[in-house]
Amino acid sequence: MSVPVVIRKIGRAYGAMQALADVDLEIGAGEFVSFVGPSGCGKTTLLRIVADLEKPTSGEVKIGGANPKEVRRQKKLGLVSQRPAVLPWKRALDDVKFTQKITQRVGYPADQLLRDFGLEGHERKKPGQLSGGMLQRVNCASAIAHDPELLLMDEPFSALDEMKREEMGEWFARELETRPRTVLFVTHHIDEAVLLSDRVVVFSASPGRVYEIVAIGAPRPRDRSFRESRIFIETTARLRKMLFQDLEAGR
Ligand SMILES: Nc1ncnc2c1ncn2[C@@H]1O[C@H](COP(=O)(O)OP(=O)(O)O)[C@@H](O)[C@H]1O
Ligand SMILES: [Mg+2]
Repeated sequence: MSVPVVIRKIGRAYGAMQALADVDLEIGAGEFVSFVGPSGCGKTTLLRIVADLEKPTSGEVKIGGANPKEVRRQKKLGLVSQRPAVLPWKRALDDVKFTQKITQRVGYPADQLLRDFGLEGHERKKPGQLSGGMLQRVNCASAIAHDPELLLMDEPFSALDEMKREEMGEWFARELETRPRTVLFVTHHIDEAVLLSDRVVVFSASPGRVYEIVAIGAPRPRDRSFRESRIFIETTARLRKMLFQDLEAGR
């Protein structure tokens, strides 16, 4: 199951500071959309608005026609926060099971999910006993454990080394083939965005706006050989130019 997301004329101000302005996006059911853009352009804010953790100053979000609040109440959302609240006493396995308890939905067997994420032997460890990368994988497992229709991921793999990052990306890519869901994915990693997404939304900063939307014209999931394809090479180069030249120069 997956849902479409409509983001209509979203603006968000913090006092005099306009964090987001006029953000319009239509995301199809089952689509994987990445958000990239300079630090501070409002990616986290936008994701938190979709997750009903923050209110927009203007505009509205509809998830399958419903308000974020209703969708959150129905437990159809999964969120990997950029800075998750860590409960020091909660063991990895309990963290995953907690999601399933409060949502009353077991999408995946908790222990299998942790094994899939390379955490075998660490299931009973508390956050203080896990590395940053391990903790991030526990957060990913908790976010997906109830099989949410909409998955919101805010730099979910940023603490992982390159190899683990690729493994996690591949797991999600394969998994989405069997259980399609809509994914909004924030990343700084251009290669990762191009490898995983149907479309990449590039944001410009102050205020955060949609600068350009780049469609990746190749079916998902894509394996490692996609990195050698013309589409991959040209799209990553185009995104790099936008992010590191055009936006820096204020074009
Ligand atoms: N609670 C808040 N209070 C005041 N300013 C905030 C708050 N949250 C975010 N901001 C500001 O809004 C802008 C966008 O932040 P954020 O969404 O975290 O950007 P990104 O995730 O793209 O790096 C930044 O300038 C940030 O300082
Ligand atoms: Mg952020």
